[in-house]
Amino acid sequence: MGMTAAALAAAVDGVIVGDPDAVVTSFAIDSRDLEPGACFVALRGVRDGHDFAADAFARGATVALVAREVDHPAAAALVVVDDPLGALARAAAHTRAAWTDVTVVGITGSVGKTSTKDLTAAALGGARRVHASRGSFNNESGLPLTLLHTPGGTEVVIAEMGARFPGNIADLCLVARPSVGVVTRVGLAHAAHLGGPAGILETKGELVEALPASGTAVLNADDPASPALAARTAARVLTVGRRPDADVVVGEIVLDRDLRPRFALASPWGTVEVALAVRGEHQAQNAAMAATVGLVLGVAPESVAAGLARAETASGRMELATSPGGVVVINDAYNANPDSVRAALASLRAYRPTGRRVAVLGDMLELGGHAEAEHAAVADLAATAGVDLLVAVGPHSAVTAAHAARAGIETLHAADRDEARALVTARVRPGDAVLLKASRGIGLETVADALARGEADR
Ligand SMILES: Nc1ncnc2c1ncn2[C@@H]1O[C@H](COP(=O)(O)OP(=O)(O)OP(=O)(O)O)[C@@H](O)[C@H]1O
Ligand SMILES: [Mg+2]
Repeated sequence: MGMTAAALAAAVDGVIVGDPDAVVTSFAIDSRDLEPGACFVALRGVRDGHDFAADAFARGATVALVAREVDHPAAAALVVVDDPLGALARAAAHTRAAWTDVTVVGITGSVGKTSTKDLTAAALGGARRVHASRGSFNNESGLPLTLLHTPGGTEVVIAEMGARFPGNIADLCLVARPSVGVVTRVGLAHAAHLGGPAGILETKGELVEALPASGTAVLNADDPASPALAARTAARVLTVGRRPDADVVVGEIVLDRDLRPRFALASPWGTVEVALAVRGEHQAQNAAMAATVGLVLGVAPESVAAGLARAETASGRMELATSPGGVVVINDAYNANPDSVRAALASLRAYRPTGRRVAVLGDMLELGGHAEAEHAAVADLAATAGVDLLVAVGPHSAVTAAHAARAGIETLHAADRDEARALVTARVRPGDAVLLKASRGIGLETVADALARGEADR
């Protein structure tokens, strides 16, 4: 891409101060990951982005999108607007509106968005030029950045869409205008903000509602919320899941010794065998939804399967490592909510360690009024999974610890990750398989790293 300050100002209704011919080749909201030639967008978060404009220019920014004038080099420009975040979205909408031969795929849901996004990119990768969101860039700044950074020649843009509040997804869809929408699952993530289960359904439904009649909604056949979503879209609906009456059926899922799923995928485009490199039974559903997007976009089933086989795990999502002394570390510490804890414990159950099954489970944050019941339910899941030792971490998890102890599981409670690290490294032995999972705020990846380095090897 290459856009002058003048063109940017016209797209966002801004006022130029400085050189209107300054050229923008990328956008950044954080001066630390800004490339020379970027437009720095000064957002107001915990700190005021305007305070970092000087740093951005020092790192090579050519333009800054700002709400007030700041110092700038003579060869650079400011584009002054009322609302830089809104202007970033307008710039992205402007870019997207100019595309004629690009398909935008939107992916939302309470779990598995990033996994499904990465798997979709892999499923399409062998046959189409694909651009996907970086990491979990899925919000009102991340989605515009995804669109604005789309290289020329791209055929399919795969955009993760996250929601913290009702209306968020609808706003993202106005910018991205997807014609294919995937809802991985409607669950309890961010329940506190979204007004409970009904609010979550409403919010995730905004994606399918935004699809045109010529588009396709890809829904989870095994999610009880899907019929309600299907009723809200003008687009063709394809359901994907284990249910035999799904449009795309996931056959029996077999996990290998390293927890990698293999299954037959039967669809109107034919049946194909899928073997994944990513781990955990839940990835079969993510991969099947990703495959469906590929099939809808005309990619051959064999090419879809070959692409999926190459997809790799993002960090902290069911990463499997063995310490030098033989402690098996299943690091799923990236995040946690009730659905993903259930999935992770199902994988631990499927794992066959020579030693014990140990689960280090921390708080699931943002559950609002559901917190107590959901943390108690984790104890039952741990019992079903055959957990031999449970270390519950964080204040909410005290409920998990109490229930688990009553269920007869050897249980410890740690106040925070540092205490957890001390408890775990003192008790875990080579041969044990240790699952680590909690909301990001708990930070259990530090315990995973310590174990993988051999802190519990004796
Ligand atoms: N289909 C699924 N069902 C249950 N758990 C899942 C599923 N897919 C992924 N997970 C688990 O949920 C966690 C988050 O996965 P992922 O990053 O793909 O989700 P996300 O929706 O992008 O999350 P975020 O909202 O943080 O961006 C991981 O621990 C992963 O193992
Ligand atoms: Mg994500």
